[in-house]
Amino acid sequence: MNADAVGTPRPRIEGRLKVTGAAHYAADIPMPDLAHGWMVTATLSRGRIRDIDTSAALGMPGVLGVLDHRDAPRLNPQAGNYFGPDGSLQLLQDDVIPYAGWPLALVVAETPEQARAAAAAVRVTCDGEPHDLDFSLEHLAARPASTAFGPEADIGDLKAELAASAVVLEERYRTPEESHCAMEPHAATVWWDSDHVYAVDSNQGAFSVSEVLAALWSIDRERVHVRSEHVGGGFGGKGACGPQVVLASMAGRRFGRPVRIAMTRAQVFETTSSRPRTDQVMTVGADADGRLRAIQHRAAYAVSPLSEYIEACTEQAKVLYSAPAIRTQLTAVPLDILPPASMRGPGATPGSFALESAIDEVAERLDMDPLELRLRNQPTVTPASGKPFSTRRLVSCMREGARRFGWAARDRRPRSRREGPLLIGSGMATTSFSAGVFPSQASITAEADGTFTVSIGASDIGTGARTALTAVAADALGAGTERIRLRIGDSDLGMAWGAGGSRGTTSWSFAITEAAKKLRESLADPVRPVTATVDTTTMIDFQPDRERQTYSAVFAEVTVDPATGEVRVRRLLGMFAVGRVINPLLARSQVVGGMIMGLSMALHEENVRDPRTGRLANGDWAGYHIAAHADVPDIEADFVPDYEPQDPSGFNGLGEIGTAGTAAAIANAVWHATGTRQRILPIRLDRVL
Ligand code: MOS
Repeated sequence: MNADAVGTPRPRIEGRLKVTGAAHYAADIPMPDLAHGWMVTATLSRGRIRDIDTSAALGMPGVLGVLDHRDAPRLNPQAGNYFGPDGSLQLLQDDVIPYAGWPLALVVAETPEQARAAAAAVRVTCDGEPHDLDFSLEHLAARPASTAFGPEADIGDLKAELAASAVVLEERYRTPEESHCAMEPHAATVWWDSDHVYAVDSNQGAFSVSEVLAALWSIDRERVHVRSEHVGGGFGGKGACGPQVVLASMAGRRFGRPVRIAMTRAQVFETTSSRPRTDQVMTVGADADGRLRAIQHRAAYAVSPLSEYIEACTEQAKVLYSAPAIRTQLTAVPLDILPPASMRGPGATPGSFALESAIDEVAERLDMDPLELRLRNQPTVTPASGKPFSTRRLVSCMREGARRFGWAARDRRPRSRREGPLLIGSGMATTSFSAGVFPSQASITAEADGTFTVSIGASDIGTGARTALTAVAADALGAGTERIRLRIGDSDLGMAWGAGGSRGTTSWSFAITEAAKKLRESLADPVRPVTATVDTTTMIDFQPDRERQTYSAVFAEVTVDPATGEVRVRRLLGMFAVGRVINPLLARSQVVGGMIMGLSMALHEENVRDPRTGRLANGDWAGYHIAAHADVPDIEADFVPDYEPQDPSGFNGLGEIGTAGTAAAIANAVWHATGTRQRILPIRLDRVL
């Protein structure tokens, strides 16, 4: 049997379509009779609409109409997200303003320019109310976060272990609100035809968007058809049903024409979602010989009362280190803000900044090498739960990373290295990220001509999932990749998990592999076509008795200019354990992209809000700094040999592990260069000096 597609580096199948402009995204599919929608958004953070005067807008050229809360189609208030009813989807339903950027009206016109001009002519009068954007761990309105992702850790006697420790560190770490900044702004083109709704939408999972739209409109899901063939990035910002597709569906219904909404960059910033701010306190106790005795990780994050969200900052404290006492506490702080959502490495990314900075600080106080401290505290079973690990190649990542980086030659004293006027420092961090699969449905047809049509509601948001799944299908069918025709990005292809939670490719590969098995059993029948369909819902063990995670060790070298405070990352090296690698070229691209995002988080990214209005002061790519090419060094990233025994093909996900861990490695390197700890991100010039 031919089975060597997995493991072979191959470029993206759709690469040529993309670079020649032939790949159509949600805002550029050709569509006759198209109308265009433009949002009018709130400029204050809390209050009520008193009046909307549309008279001037309605008289402008090309304007078809304006939808607002007085006359927009009614939506089902019970429609929700993963956690329950989601108020952020209830657009144009009442006069309440829950955050700055909330859509107040939608102008529909013949051209986007006409819609935009008319939107500027809509006069909205609001009654403002005092808003609450304040944020800290001690916030009065704080409540425990939902434990839907698992219970808090509470093992051992924290107080006694801290009392018995030779060194106790207690420090506070803060990370800002950040924006996903996917290359393609959110966009949707929507039309109705005899009680069926059709959407071409930019999202991370067409099936789940179709489910939400069906719920909002109280219609059967079979009448909702969402396509998302090409998506220009998501990073979690397109993980849920977005406002663009909800509003376009309302306008399409009202005006009986296809309606397109293509957001501007500024609208994406203020109206879609963001990574929430966090405020975290680490309390870590250790013996003089570097044995950890106690780890307490308390984290608070901002949330909107409109919809539940969990920023699971404390997960790594349950997994990474062995200690007799481990306690976690996660707190949600409801504020009048844009509802946060997962952003690449949700929870783990801000959480590991706190945990891995604190571990580095403990090493400093013990005068110990931080890599050695980590190696001394590796657990044999999952510390918080007692579960055995599935595969855990973290020590290999650390040792191989250290070898390639030349860590052994490092003088661990801060400010020990200079080159001319520059201070040079190096730092490292480790991390883990939860892995697994969610249910999906796959269908494979053996065609009469010897090819195979593989259909799965998967989503390729630019990661190369299409290319990876083609290889998985080829090997599972014992055929060459040239015989595989893969269909993805369409809710009509059946229930499927989205491109998120580092579980897209593993979930879809699982379903494809099972469908291929089933098909091969029936292929004794010489009559083609033959189709096999599977739904993996009943095949998945949702309470596995082994802890399934991916791991990384990241090493960074920085230069700091003591005159200006400028930090530059000049080396970045990551070693990853992610199970068996499907496509080394695309996998490296994923983790390198993730590390760049972590570098950008460490040094640049921060949503700044005007405290008087709550509006973003820097909500565009002029004001919101992202690492540019000139900020990014040549990055080294590689994988240690690994195989996930809980997966039929040995795979784990790798979409997010690159990001988590990188910021701490850089912050630790900045300390090593300067002797000053960086406990607040981003590491701005004024925080370095
Ligand atoms: Mo991701 S942040 O799970 O899309």
